[in-house]
Amino acid sequence: MRQGSYEDPAALRDSFAGAEQVLLISGNDPAADMVGLHRNAVEAAVAASAGRILYTSQQGAVPGNPYRPSDIHIATEAILGDSGVAWTALRNGAYGPLDHLLGPWQRTGVIAQPEDGPVPYTDRDDIAEATAIILAGDRSFDGPVTLTAPTALTFDDFAKIACDLTGRTVERVVVNGKRWVADQVAAGVPEQVARHLLTWHQAARAGWFAEADPLLAELLGRAPRTAEDRLAAEIGI
Ligand SMILES: NC(=O)c1ccc[n+]([C@@H]2O[C@H](COP(=O)([O-])OP(=O)(O)OC[C@H]3O[C@@H](n4cnc5c(N)ncnc54)[C@H](OP(=O)(O)O)[C@@H]3O)[C@@H](O)[C@H]2O)c1
Repeated sequence: MRQGSYEDPAALRDSFAGAEQVLLISGNDPAADMVGLHRNAVEAAVAASAGRILYTSQQGAVPGNPYRPSDIHIATEAILGDSGVAWTALRNGAYGPLDHLLGPWQRTGVIAQPEDGPVPYTDRDDIAEATAIILAGDRSFDGPVTLTAPTALTFDDFAKIACDLTGRTVERVVVNGKRWVADQVAAGVPEQVARHLLTWHQAARAGWFAEADPLLAELLGRAPRTAEDRLAAEIGI
């Protein structure tokens, strides 16, 4: 095992030495210059003569998407495009834990979140498996590919699924964005982070994540795990 940090370009060149392919996991530190750190990593992979650089981007990482991290992914994909090395951007669907996404609905019976839009919520392990398949396989993907679950859902859909799974009434309540940020801050989330997260709801509402893509299922050779499966597992059904 070799250690490396995006903050130490010289050491990274040693980390990457001899690699045919380099998979860069994007960072998400809101206080860091993430584009600069990603540039360090790309330049180190180029200097180490990697044949291909893969990068964990995000679904809908295109200009105009209001979700703040999109800008980092767009800039990093541009750096990859200028690198002169073959590259693949894995534009992964949202794969965060559902309890973070939906809040304490199991206790309250209410999914109280800002107005949203359809998103193909994707299983983290499915993304990891597909990434390994791409890395180890013969098929090359040039530029961006989108990896998502096959069906886009809204919080309304989650409320219905939760009702069906539990037999309880689970209500969807739309919370005003300003109020939601205040609630998050009261719960201990730094205001900057809460505002940042709210841009995700805004992007979902505007349809930036609405399109599901069949490639994940194709790569896995099976149906990806659904949001229903994941919610059932989280409630222990
Ligand atoms: N969560 C989502 O729904 C989602 C969806 C699409 C895209 N993404 C993107 O995918 C990225 C990874 O997400 P994740 O949930 O897997 O994050 P994560 O669990 O926090 O993993 C981040 C990894 O980066 C490493 N790291 C942190 N700072 C580093 C540095 N300066 N140099 C080298 N490595 C460093 C961390 O190492 P240590 O463990 O040693 O700290 C960790 O292994 C996110 O940053 C985001 O850009 C996420």
